[in-house]
Amino acid sequence: MPDNLESMRRTHTCCALGKADIGTEVILMGWVQRRRDHGGVIFVDLRDRKGITQVVFNPKIDSSVHTKAHAIRSEFVIAVRGTVDSRPEGMVNPNLTTGAIEVLVTELRILNAAVTPPFLIEDTVDVSESLRLTYRHLDLRRPQLQQNIILRHRAASSVRTFLNSHDFIDIETPCLTRSTPEGARDYLVPSRVNPGQFYALPQSPQIFKQLLMISGFDRYYQIVRCFRDEDLRADRQPEFTQIDIEMSFVGEEDIMALSEGMIQTLFKDVLDIALKTPFNRLTYDEAVGRYGLDKPDTRFGLELIDVSDIVETSNFKVFSSVVKNGGLVKALNAKGCLDFSRKEIDDLTDLVSIYKAKGLAWIKVRDNEWQSPITKFFSEDEKSAMKERIGMEAGDLIFFVADQPGITNEALGHLRNHLGKRLNLIDDDMYNFVWVTQFPLLEYDETEKRNQALHHPFTAPFEADYDKLETDPLNVRSRAYDLVLNGFEIGGGSIRIHQKKIQESVFNALGLTPEAYEEKFGFLISALDSGAPPHGGIAFGFDRLVMLMCGQSSIRDIIAFPKTQRAACLLTNAPSKTGKKQLDELYLKVKPIIK
Ligand code: AMO
Ligand code: AMP
Repeated sequence: MPDNLESMRRTHTCCALGKADIGTEVILMGWVQRRRDHGGVIFVDLRDRKGITQVVFNPKIDSSVHTKAHAIRSEFVIAVRGTVDSRPEGMVNPNLTTGAIEVLVTELRILNAAVTPPFLIEDTVDVSESLRLTYRHLDLRRPQLQQNIILRHRAASSVRTFLNSHDFIDIETPCLTRSTPEGARDYLVPSRVNPGQFYALPQSPQIFKQLLMISGFDRYYQIVRCFRDEDLRADRQPEFTQIDIEMSFVGEEDIMALSEGMIQTLFKDVLDIALKTPFNRLTYDEAVGRYGLDKPDTRFGLELIDVSDIVETSNFKVFSSVVKNGGLVKALNAKGCLDFSRKEIDDLTDLVSIYKAKGLAWIKVRDNEWQSPITKFFSEDEKSAMKERIGMEAGDLIFFVADQPGITNEALGHLRNHLGKRLNLIDDDMYNFVWVTQFPLLEYDETEKRNQALHHPFTAPFEADYDKLETDPLNVRSRAYDLVLNGFEIGGGSIRIHQKKIQESVFNALGLTPEAYEEKFGFLISALDSGAPPHGGIAFGFDRLVMLMCGQSSIRDIIAFPKTQRAACLLTNAPSKTGKKQLDELYLKVKPIIK
């Protein structure tokens, strides 16, 4: 028999066989997961994308096929013809969907050999991520990754079907474009035909989707790649995918309701989970006030407690001076954590220092006394007010951060998330969606020394706050909303500015001169002045959403070919140096790299 596919057609996939097939002749093709030689009979676990089936080479059935099977090794690609048989008594494998049957092979074709893989193709394999990424084509053979990638496909398909049935039009937008301001650095692409000039890869299709509204395509969507040159984390990639949506003649409620319907359908289609809508909502101030972060994990309590008013006049100067200087003193009550060691508290102090907190004060509540370096500074009245406000009971450990509001909230917000995990307060099976609304329009950027848009510069301010744009810009609220799932920001959007005058005032508030904004966004301003409908939209981080749906903790596990924390592809070795000829064509010269 030839070792090719001549006159051979696959009849089944590996997991599609069961007791009902006993006696049938089948042809299976796939990879050798494992070969075991048991006293003359060879067993092979044959794997394809659907699962694993045990195939048996028995010399009593066909001795030449059995002899040939000796050559088989892990990851060889083979085709087998055989008859489905029930497994003998006691040999049934309840862990396999095909565990009750096996295939007795009458014909074997070795379609390709394989060198020994650098790691076992198994979910439980314990190898470094860099080795897995270097051999990603092998890593992707693992059942978990296959399931992740297939779930991702099903998710995209569900979203497309939903949006198509809601009258949305899928429109592609350019990848070679101008800088789009989403707050990260751009990836630049040099133009050969325009020496010295660069395209930017889009951080999002934001401006194009607004222009499409102005063109009259009143419901747009695209599952689209975006590019951001920013510091990478487990939930960030330099290129990632958005479900990008824009609608005309709508307000916040329309976009939020559509999004809820889409997410609800997605979870039902892909996970068979019925989500309750509408999702809960928190204003930005509530989210930050109660949870410290604008992407709160609402699966557990452990809320932040403001004690600024109680400690303002206390003798503990660290606290009182912070409050007098406009700062906040807030507490977290780690219930029952009296037995935390000194080392553990020191580690938590290191954790909050990442977020610039200058210290982490604590009080351990013993039966009759408080044990802490700071209790001596507080009067009996202050102590009883704290006890009441914080709900302090014997066995509790209370943490405090005193700092400017941004630092106090952020540091305690991250400490809260850490303690939530450490104290097992989180139900991993829960999907807690929450909308965060009423963001400030602008924030002051300490490094750039100017106001920045919190969302992006095309987000509409609250109409009631228009007059503050000039007088008190940092207190203008925006019509932006984020969707948060289990502490991850999975989507964000806003109602946009559709009038030239307002767009110009926002550019002014951002410290841009008319010349500067004309140069950068002149085309948008002129488009707004040519009959722009009221419009708004949202973009979902598709990778993050799929990561959470797959129960994974890194978006690298749900992207077929992801990049490392250093934005490198270990499989192809991108990025890489380029030759002088190509640089010359692009009129580029690389400076010597000084490290
Ligand atoms: P935003 O910048 O909030 O909004 O992005 C939308 C969503 O994209 C996801 N996301 C990322 N995912 C992986 N890696 C990254 N580096 C990354 N950066 C962002 C997040 C985020 O919520 N044009 C606007 C949307 C709009 O206003 O309609 C925008 O891009 O889940
Ligand atoms: P000190 O008096 O500086 O030794 O601080 C006493 C305690 O207060 C220590 O546990 C410090 O970690 C803590 N502490 C110092 N600064 C702050 C701050 N800004 N917020 C919270 N705790 C602090």
